[in-house]
Amino acid sequence: MRDQSAVLLDWYDVHARDMPWRVPPAARKAGVLPDPYAVWLSEVMLQQTTVAAVRDYHRKFMALWPTVATLAAADDADVMAAWAGLGYYARARNLLKCARAVVADHGGAFPDTYDVLLTLPGIGPYTAAAIAAIAFDRPETVVDGNVERVMARLHDVHAPLPAAKAELTALARALTPMARAGDYAQAVMDLGATICSPRSPACGICPWRDPCKARVAGTATELPRKTPKKKTPTRFGIAYVARRDDGAWLLETRPQSGLLGGMLGWPGSDWSDDPDPAPPMTADWAALDAEARHTFTHFHLRLKIMTAKVATDASPDRGQFMPLSPAALPTVMRKVYDMVAVTLRHD
Ligand code: ADE
Repeated sequence: MRDQSAVLLDWYDVHARDMPWRVPPAARKAGVLPDPYAVWLSEVMLQQTTVAAVRDYHRKFMALWPTVATLAAADDADVMAAWAGLGYYARARNLLKCARAVVADHGGAFPDTYDVLLTLPGIGPYTAAAIAAIAFDRPETVVDGNVERVMARLHDVHAPLPAAKAELTALARALTPMARAGDYAQAVMDLGATICSPRSPACGICPWRDPCKARVAGTATELPRKTPKKKTPTRFGIAYVARRDDGAWLLETRPQSGLLGGMLGWPGSDWSDDPDPAPPMTADWAALDAEARHTFTHFHLRLKIMTAKVATDASPDRGQFMPLSPAALPTVMRKVYDMVAVTLRHD
């Protein structure tokens, strides 16, 4: 009987998903390895984000900044604007820090071992293992949510996440082969994303149906179990949206640290302790009769929206008037823009 990892690699040879940063299995077998920069960029983007959402952003970043050196030399504001809409903006700030560290400390080449990758900004255990395996074929074990689900089902593990993480990682490690480690890592993730899906796993066509203990026990759809999260709290805030007669919008760059750090946004509260901040300038403010809603990792946000049209020579106490490209806004700010665009239309 073939070894369990070999069975999965046979499946991957036929069913590997096509991704812009991926070298298909046939080419890898012929000795082609992917560009470590492209792999790193994909793995940072894929943290907490789906492959479908990442594809176009990855293409855009590779077109704008084709090498780590070009990214390291980019303007922070351009990179933040290109990241807008992907969320979790600390990733974009760390992306730049990491690119600059690779250039300054590693001669512009990504390190090829787990331990050294782990020293770089924004690269934690998951990303270090993914780059070492996928870009350099090191036999590291890559454990994301897909892999946790596959392992929990394969071994019928009923202990709940996140406590079961160490056990599931050990089970994954025991299966990782020495050869073709990059393809294997991607194969387990593809299996989890396509066949071993959360709600309706296609056990009948799974290459691991025979060894799968949850399939035999009939527990696959219940696994992995999760410890219930606390209820997500709701916070409230205000966004002040002012538009000048010449069409410019009042915006400010948010502080580097904290939520949406370094991104453009509407002046207002920081959504923590002051729900009622002073307006950023004297104007004839009017409340919009609808509020913007957005959900972050740890809270729901409800934003009251105040709008004002102001004269071209008006000067703000906070922020700057500037032309706006809505695509450069993070999603919550973009929602506000979409809601005020008609009220503050400029002809
Ligand atoms: N999720 C994160 N990285 C991935 C990869 N390289 N292949 C498939 N799914 C992934």
